Amino acid sequence: MEAKAKSQPQTELLVCVKCRRGQEIPSDARRPGQALYDGLTGLDRIEDLRITPVECLQNCDHGCTVALRGGDSKWTYVFANVDEMSHPEMILMGATQYHDSADGVIPWRERPEHFKRNCVARIPPVTQSQES
Ligand code: FES
Repeated sequence: MEAKAKSQPQTELLVCVKCRRGQEIPSDARRPGQALYDGLTGLDRIEDLRITPVECLQNCDHGCTVALRGGDSKWTYVFANVDEMSHPEMILMGATQYHDSADGVIPWRERPEHFKRNCVARIPPVTQSQES
């Protein structure tokens, strides 16, 4: 089992609230991205997980889109094709696993299936970038 970091920085879940998820949405209607954000913030979650609404993560054709980041020593991940109705609990479970890891890497076998198949990008930790 992977060692856990002793003192974890806060984990941040960025949620694009502008995603349309391929739908034609009237300009005054609530978008799927906003519905996803509302669904996520309406559920119980760990204290150290902050959920932040953002305007666009440049993955518009494959929204809804979320990203996970957490301090300088963790990888950052961007996930696509998130469903605003069926995925909020899965996203929060994955965010908790991410938070509990030392480097942001959830062991493959424990990773939510959606995370395995819908990772758009991962970005190295700041500390790793500085070492090379
Ligand atoms: S509108 Fe959501 S990623 Fe661009």
